[in-house]
Amino acid sequence: MSTDTQAKVALSLIRATGRTHLGNYLGAVRSFVTLDAREDVSCIFGVATLHSLTTQGDPEALRRDIRGVVLDFLAAGIDPERSVIFDQTAVPETLQLSWILSCLATAGRLERMHHWKEKKDKLADLGQAANVGLFSYPVLMAADILGPGADIVPVGEDQVQHVEFARELARRFNHQFGEYFKIPEVLEREAIRVPGLSSSGKMGKSEGEKATLYLSDSYDQQWNKVKVAPTDPARVRLKDPGDPQKCNIGGMHRILDQIGLHEAGALQWVNEGCTQATMGCFPCKKKLLDVMEEAFLRDIRERREKFAAKGDGFVDEIIAAGNQKARARIQPIVEGAMQKVGLITRWS
Ligand code: TYM
Repeated sequence: MSTDTQAKVALSLIRATGRTHLGNYLGAVRSFVTLDAREDVSCIFGVATLHSLTTQGDPEALRRDIRGVVLDFLAAGIDPERSVIFDQTAVPETLQLSWILSCLATAGRLERMHHWKEKKDKLADLGQAANVGLFSYPVLMAADILGPGADIVPVGEDQVQHVEFARELARRFNHQFGEYFKIPEVLEREAIRVPGLSSSGKMGKSEGEKATLYLSDSYDQQWNKVKVAPTDPARVRLKDPGDPQKCNIGGMHRILDQIGLHEAGALQWVNEGCTQATMGCFPCKKKLLDVMEEAFLRDIRERREKFAAKGDGFVDEIIAAGNQKARARIQPIVEGAMQKVGLITRWS
């Protein structure tokens, strides 16, 4: 973390509930790497281990995935000498702040969160009830953001509403107890939503193996998923024209174009090939995977293997060092917030 007190603070966390996928990378981790390289930004990236408990009930899998997320951070190119990489659980002060913020949040507002509505309904379809952690999840996320005084919060589109909620809570706190918290921003540019390969929803850990490209998959595993991904159903034969707007592969090509990974003219080539039926879906899919392979997938895979070979001890040392730095930053800010609301933090 930069010692420059003028530096802006960027903060973001990822849950440890499975392997890191393309949605996590394009939506969030790619921005982490850009921010990590900036001299004017001090970065804190974490594993949202407490948030993981809202859906994860397997301790062995959780321990494996915590280290897996950190390996993915390193493989993506985050430098632990420049950025803090920490475990949310190692900063108990965040939970103190979360409680204070939960006393400012209303149940009605939490009930209206898209994420809550979606998750609750999915669980109901399975005949299961949603837990309270899932309900109050955005409050803990707000504490993650406000605790270190974050200025910038890089997240994918699905988390933007939660960052907005953190902004609301910061304003409410400041209004009630006097100016204290900074109002954080989502990253300057438009947040991204990567679609699942074979589903109507976003790519995600809960969308199933076939819909999800994992960063740690081999090229062949990735290609086997992309190859069979559904496209516009109108494209039955090669000569049947299609609509790239109705196709998740088309959607991914548009994202690559939006973030500047496609060379000039590539998106037009894809769109015309589809609408004029001059190109089949196979080369369109191959192009998609190969652009990503060249731009980042191969590098990530190779670096991940290299870091994984160093063993758990290597990852654990990075987290331990990051935990100390994160806590040193967050503890005094939370203590100040406790004092603002009238709690007595030192008795002698
Ligand atoms: P999580 O673990 O679900 O996702 C981690 C990051 O990946 C992004 N993401 C996507 N972006 C685009 N397309 C997709 N298909 C896609 N799937 C996931 C998410 O938007 C996110 O940025 N609550 C958070 C973790 C968290 C957090 C925080 C984030 C806890 N505290 C404080 C920022 C700041 C979550 O569950 O993310």
